[in-house]
This record gives sequence, structure tokens and C-alpha cells, in this order.
Amino acid sequence: MEIYENAVDKGLEGVVACSTAISSIVDATLCYRGYIIEDLAANATYEEVAYLLWNDCLPDKNELSQFCEELGREMKLDANILKVLSELPTSNVHPMAWLRSAVSVLALYDQEAQDDSSEANRRKAIRMTVKIPLLVAAFQRFRQGLPVVQPEADKGIAWNFLYTLEGKEPSDQLARDFDVCMILHADHELNCSAFAARVTASSLSDIYSAVVSAISALKGPLHGGANEQVMKMLKEIGSLEDVEPWLEKALSEKRKIMGFGHRVYKNGDPRAKVLCEMSERLTAWSGQPHLYQMSARLDQIMQDSKGLLPNVDFYSATVYDSMKIPTDLFTPVFASARISGWLGHIFEQWNNNRIYRPRGRWIGKERLEYKLLEER
Ligand code: COA
Repeated sequence: MEIYENAVDKGLEGVVACSTAISSIVDATLCYRGYIIEDLAANATYEEVAYLLWNDCLPDKNELSQFCEELGREMKLDANILKVLSELPTSNVHPMAWLRSAVSVLALYDQEAQDDSSEANRRKAIRMTVKIPLLVAAFQRFRQGLPVVQPEADKGIAWNFLYTLEGKEPSDQLARDFDVCMILHADHELNCSAFAARVTASSLSDIYSAVVSAISALKGPLHGGANEQVMKMLKEIGSLEDVEPWLEKALSEKRKIMGFGHRVYKNGDPRAKVLCEMSERLTAWSGQPHLYQMSARLDQIMQDSKGLLPNVDFYSATVYDSMKIPTDLFTPVFASARISGWLGHIFEQWNNNRIYRPRGRWIGKERLEYKLLEER
């Protein structure tokens, strides 16, 4: 059949599925709206980046302060929502599964959920951008049996995440480091979760449903779940001396080493370089320099033996661990930053929408004769 001629069998590798002006990856350069990620990580705030991803330009001073005010007004979790969330189970529950449900709860309590005007969607986007990190911190407090900490409206998203997670104010340096992590994770072209968000948005489903699709896609270990697996791997290896024998065995068993390789970057992930420096500094600060040393050794051997380079998940694991973020919250933390990118993709999809409806190449049996149940 003619339509099967250009069929892509697995993973849509190399397929350009839509036009986008949100983020681009060319060789080892990642840009958001044309600005290179290293520049944004060094100079911008996460709030500025969220504005950039949604508006196609950096905000000026007035625009940024107005945007931060809008975010600040939503910087809270309402008591009725917290009451429902406090009833959800937290033990034996993956935090991403909890987050997926919590975002659905937010939708049920959003008075504008049924309003699909672009103004209402922008307000919902602001709400989700602020509240998703707060939900992740609230989950941690619920499962520890601790009271949920209300955020400070005049502080930023990164600061408030660390504050509401721990219940104490983070240092300026730590808040800035986490802000940089959020910038690095904010968007990444047409990755699996952004695509999932766009596919759901393309049917003109609502903004919350599109975000829930994205969260569901990010949960998988081949996407956002890898950073959690990296930390588990480092704990399993145990010490610097054990890195080489552990890796040799894992590779001989054809195991995938989490945090290495990438579908698009074949010459290195620029985000990993920023995070590598941060990992060295923060593991030393938190008194666990061996975690960085083990990571660096793994990195070296993977490059030498397999030609595989670390991706964003590799060094973010030890960075988050140094920030005392529990390992199983690494992927929800990823979602807390990626929400701004997902929303940018949803808006872009709606600005030039056509429903995604690809075809499947038929490889099954042909024209079988139906047999009545008693004859089978
Ligand atoms: N460890 C060991 N080998 C790896 C590897 C890894 N992390 N990543 C890729 N490879 C090998 C594959 O085994 C395969 O080898 P083969 O050709 O001998 O079979 C080859 O490299 C190509 O890998 P493939 O899985 O086809 O690449 P992909 O483009 O489909 O997948 C990833 C990309 C990211 C899903 C993949 O590299 C991976 O699973 N990495 C670990 C998970 C991870 O860190 N995910 C976060 C991504 S940001």
C-alpha cells in the first residue's frame, strides 16, 4: 500500500511531527525561543523563562513584575483542595501517580475548567505552573504526617518549592541552584511528554487533560523516571571502587545504564554540563563528594567504552539528592519545571491546530473466517 512506503516502525525516530517555535535542538545546542540554554541558566529566572516559553519574547521589567504578581496571586493551595488531597493514599503509591490524580483534582475545583477561552486558559496555565510544585511538596508533607506549609506569595516558584517541602527557608544560593535546575528542565522540543500533551490538546480536550497526559508520559523510566533510577543505581553501586566492576557486569548483561544516551543528542546534552558542575559543588557542600566522584567515573567509562554521554537526568540525580529531595520525588520535580514547556506546547498546538491522527501499518492476519463460539 502506498501509505506504508514511508512508515516508521518504532519510536518515530527522525520524524518531524509538527512545526514549533518553542525550543530547538541543533547538534549539542538547546535553545528556548532562540535563546541558548546556557545563557538562560546563567542569567534568567524560571519565571522569566516561563514567560518566554508562552510569549515568544523575554519580558521587560514591567511585564515580568506583572507576570510575577499574577503567579503570586495563585501561590497557595486552597483548603478545600487540600482536604480532598489529604484523603488520597500516599503509601505504596508512586508520587507521579499521586501527582497525576492531584492535577485532576485541581481541575475539578477550578471554576474555569469548562471555559476554553484563551484568557481562561492562560489563567489556568498560571495556576498549574504555581500549584504543581506546591502539590509535590504537599505530597511529601502528607506522607510524613506533617502539616502542609503554605508558600510565601512574594517569593519565587523555586524558593517556595524548597520552602514548602522542608518547612524552612532555603538559602539564596540553594534557591538559585534549584531555579537553574527548573530552567534547564523547562522544555525540550518534541519529547515524549510534550508530544503526549499536544496529542491530547489536538482533540480540543481541555488544558488539564493535556497536562495529565504529559505527566503520565513523563512517569516512565525511559523519559522523566530516569533520574530516580540514577540515584538508585549509585546507591546500589555503593562506592567509587565498585563503579568499574558494577558497570562491566551491567553492560555484559546488556542493561541500559540510566542517565546515558539520548534520542536526539549524539554529541552531548548541554544541560548535563551545567548540572555536572552543580553536582560537584553541591555534593561537596552536602558532605557527599563520593556521589559526584562515582558519577564522574561512570561518565568517563561510559564515554570510553560505549561512546554514550550523560543526559539531563544523570547529574540532576546527585544535585537533587544534595538538596535533600527524596529520590522518588525526582520525577515529580521534573514535572514541576516541565509544566511551563508543556503549556507552551499546548498553546502552540491550539494556535494552529489539526488533530493528530497517524496511521498504523497493518501486519496482522488477513480476511479470517469468523467461527461461531461453539465451533472454535
Ligand atoms: N545504556 C546502555 N546502552 C545504551 C544506553 C544506555 N543508557 N542508551 C542507548 N544504549 C545503546 C542501546 O543498547 C543500543 O545499542 P544496540 O544498537 O547495540 O542495541 C544503542 O545504544 C541505541 O539505543 P536505543 O535504545 O535504540 O536509543 P533510543 O534513541 O531508542 O533511546 C534513550 C534513547 C534515552 C531512551 C536510551 O538511550 C535510554 O534508554 N537511556 C537510558 C534512560 C534515560 O537516561 N532516559 C532519559 C532520557 S533524557
